[in-house]
Amino acid sequence: MSNLPSPDQLESEILRLKKEKNVVILAHYYQESEIQDLADFVGDSLQLSVEAKNTDADVICFCGVHFMAETAKILNPSKTVVVPDLAAGCSLADGCPASEFEEWLKDYPDHTVVTYINASAEVKALSDITCTSSNAAKIIKALGPDEKIVFAPDKHLGRYVGKESGRDDIVLWQGSCIVHETFSEKKLLALKVRHPGAKIIAHPECEESILKHADCIASTSGLLRFVVEDEASSFIVATEAGILHKMSQAAPSKELIPAPPEDESCACNMCPYMRLNTMEKLYLCLRDLGPEVDVPKATRVRALQPIERMLEMSK
Ligand code: 13P
Ligand code: SF4
Repeated sequence: MSNLPSPDQLESEILRLKKEKNVVILAHYYQESEIQDLADFVGDSLQLSVEAKNTDADVICFCGVHFMAETAKILNPSKTVVVPDLAAGCSLADGCPASEFEEWLKDYPDHTVVTYINASAEVKALSDITCTSSNAAKIIKALGPDEKIVFAPDKHLGRYVGKESGRDDIVLWQGSCIVHETFSEKKLLALKVRHPGAKIIAHPECEESILKHADCIASTSGLLRFVVEDEASSFIVATEAGILHKMSQAAPSKELIPAPPEDESCACNMCPYMRLNTMEKLYLCLRDLGPEVDVPKATRVRALQPIERMLEMSK
């Protein structure tokens, strides 16, 4: 990469550019620890949307994945939204192309379309309401028992929130997260035998075979809160490994054990998209104010309604 500062100056240069250009750096819990440590705000996808909506900065630098930066742009169209790596996608968003989704919805004309925020702006524009893993069950319950519902794109989250809200009739798009599907039930149980006092905590994007063993199922911020507040001293963590950084900062005395992927020789519990963002790319992003994320106006205007409806119902 061209004209980078020396490694020991990278952080101070990022902070200098951030101040000079009035940039707010928002980072998801799955970002590498150096990025989390210099971000203005670290959070889950709902918290980051709220921060993006409320910021006074001229530029939002989104250290996360593309759908998160798009959501920030939809909520704040007058701001410049930049990302360290434009290729940071998401298997859930990529597995639900808007044209296929639109065709699929034709079979469910009288259904309310609830879309997980891990989806493209075009898919959000076809939806009635968005949700995140921290408010999905609340939103489904608030819609009422008689409302016919389709849920996309995560089949595991959809099945889980259906169960939580007493609904087994929700129509599910068959998408999944490549990271959360890697955890192995067999290896999880073997780990539990070695750590009998440890509590298992899991993100609802995990498969049912993992979730059924969990003492706590929650969004990234919910899992972090549980580790801090629960009396247990040891936790097996079934989500992307980036969250362990904030957990160990917030609860330094607790033992945190990453749940094992099926293939333990891979780094499959790290999101390959989230990990495209690096300190070097963050520096270049602030220096050049790019790559920029933009959403065509017609899509942006239509996608804003389901997001605002979600933010209103999350208060
Ligand atoms: P959270 O909403 O819990 O931050 O999850 C986002 C995500 O992409 C999980 O894989
Ligand atoms: Fe998408 Fe999964 Fe990565 Fe989250 S962890 S951004 S759901 S691929």
